[in-house]
Amino acid sequence: MQIQLDAQPYSTIATDALVVCAFEDDSRFEGVLGEVDQRMKGALKKLVESGELSGKSLETVLIHFPEGLAAQRLLVVGAGKKAKFVAADLRKIAGTALRYLKSRGVKKFAFLAPEGERGTAGAQSVTEGLLWADYEADKYRTEKKPVREIDSVALAGFDMSLGDALKTAVEEGRVIGESANFARDLINEPSNRLTPRMLASRAEAMAKDVGLGIEVLDERKIAELKMGALIGVAQGSHEPPRVIVLRYKPENPKAGAPVLGLVGKSVTFDTGGISLKPADNMEDMKYDMGGGATMLGVMRALAFLKPSVPVIAVLPATENMPGGRAQKPGDVQVAMSGKTIEVINTDAEGRLILADAVFYARKLGATHLIDAATLTGAVRAALGNVHVGAFGTPREFLDDFLVSAKAQGEKMWPLPIDDEYEQFIKSDIADIRNTGTGKGAGATIGAWFIKEFVDDTPWVHLDIAATCWIHDGKPWIAKGPSGVAIRSIIDFARKLS
Ligand code: BES
Ligand code: ZN
Ligand code: ZN
Repeated sequence: MQIQLDAQPYSTIATDALVVCAFEDDSRFEGVLGEVDQRMKGALKKLVESGELSGKSLETVLIHFPEGLAAQRLLVVGAGKKAKFVAADLRKIAGTALRYLKSRGVKKFAFLAPEGERGTAGAQSVTEGLLWADYEADKYRTEKKPVREIDSVALAGFDMSLGDALKTAVEEGRVIGESANFARDLINEPSNRLTPRMLASRAEAMAKDVGLGIEVLDERKIAELKMGALIGVAQGSHEPPRVIVLRYKPENPKAGAPVLGLVGKSVTFDTGGISLKPADNMEDMKYDMGGGATMLGVMRALAFLKPSVPVIAVLPATENMPGGRAQKPGDVQVAMSGKTIEVINTDAEGRLILADAVFYARKLGATHLIDAATLTGAVRAALGNVHVGAFGTPREFLDDFLVSAKAQGEKMWPLPIDDEYEQFIKSDIADIRNTGTGKGAGATIGAWFIKEFVDDTPWVHLDIAATCWIHDGKPWIAKGPSGVAIRSIIDFARKLS
């Protein structure tokens, strides 16, 4: 899909459809919409009077052969109340327009920037929204519906006097959108087509493609490094584990500057192990590598965006299977850090592999850590599928990260990780146990367990278990992998530099 800026007046763009936004307030006809309405001799005002066009958020009204416009169709997308409008809405509007027109066989359209969104931020948001929306998750369907593709989108109405800055914004939007879609493709793969070894090859191909450093640790090297917590999880499977390490190095690194470590849970399938999960919805557990894919998407984007901070990504990749050699409830494992862990529930495997991965990232020189993981069902109980559960220490570091999340329109909510929770993971026979002794606070206990291996390193933990996959399609995005957290982490990495 081509996306290019178009300096022509919107009314003269000969295209399949022109997309304009309508706000919900009385002021809706004061701007561009009023102009369009005049060209159309009041047709839009009539639609408002009849109640067909209200401007409420993501409403769509399609008009064929609009008078006074060179486009074949006019699509009006509701933008909601002007006072409540944020950049994230623009992504959803652009995405809704794309999916609406694509499903009707449209090949090319022009998107007219609404008032107040004609600068670089608006151009980038629209580009991102288009790319997120264009993604489909039906890779393995052989009977394709009639091929419906959007070939090109023209971005109209932007402030062309911004020149190259505007072009750069569109390019960055494309890099971020394509990187998210790269991650979403991985998350969508079934586990027989994405084993830990296959994930490592996909990461290697990507790294080569974009110029990132990569090293893949095999089972021998993992054993040499004594990553006992990861090995304990992996030993139930015939598929060997991998630890995937990617490196981004800036051209002129500053001495003593921070090194960002990104750690992503990469369980390519989570059966629960001997603490076996029930059959219902177990197929969802192919996306238990969503945290790892998120970090691969971030790294891919950073390779293009070239922040001045060095970044290391560590992905512990394994299956979690019940097998003759699988670890059993009550087993004690020794983590790479030397801490001993009593494995109470083999289904709490994410925290085990992250224990060794965050520790290893610190050994490799990471001074600041972010991990992303489909870690707990409990985060859904707390926040539903709306917010990512965000934990971190020190609190200021988490707050800095949440500023990026807010700026990127990704909903994340801080959850507690106070010292009182430490007693929940005390074991009778080892240093710690992998599940709580008390009741409740499931997401916090998972986070606390990881913290045991993070120590004093500034750290953010994102529990994306409930937000990484969209179970019901939305007007602006397909069912399937959401690509959540990628934009926030990229934004934060760029600010850390
Ligand atoms: N991968 C799951 C968490 C999960 C649940 C991700 C639903 C996506 C959707 C994780 O490994 C797990 O099984 N967690 C357990 C922990 C419990 C045994 C302490 C859970 O949340 O039930
Ligand atoms: Zn599990
Ligand atoms: Zn899991």
